Amino acid sequence: MPYLNISDVTLSFGGLKALSNVNMKIEEGLITSIIGPNGAGKTSMLNCISGFYHPTLGDIFYGEKKLTNASPTRFQIWG
Ligand SMILES: Nc1ncnc2c1ncn2[C@@H]1O[C@H](COP(=O)(O)OP(=O)(O)O)[C@@H](O)[C@H]1O
Ligand SMILES: [Mg+2]
Repeated sequence: MPYLNISDVTLSFGGLKALSNVNMKIEEGLITSIIGPNGAGKTSMLNCISGFYHPTLGDIFYGEKKLTNASPTRFQIWG
């Protein structure tokens, strides 16, 4: 089954690392949440998945499709 595979994602804003080597595998059909305190990086992670931000390092795949540098307006995971 395809899944969202987040591999070693790091997102830096200058010297600040909003995300540091994040790894997650999210399976299709499961309701999955990202939890954490304010400033933990939840929004940054979702913005990387949607393509609004692009990770500084690491990769995001949905099945075989690479989302890492996809545009939020052009990419369709279902297409
Ligand atoms: N556009 C940005 N520029 C600079 N720092 C940012 C930006 N977006 C988020 N951050 C920083 O990244 C860290 C994670 O923030 P964020 O992803 O918003 O966390 P959460 O959604 O879990 O509260 C925080 O330290 C925040 O200040
Ligand atoms: Mg947030």
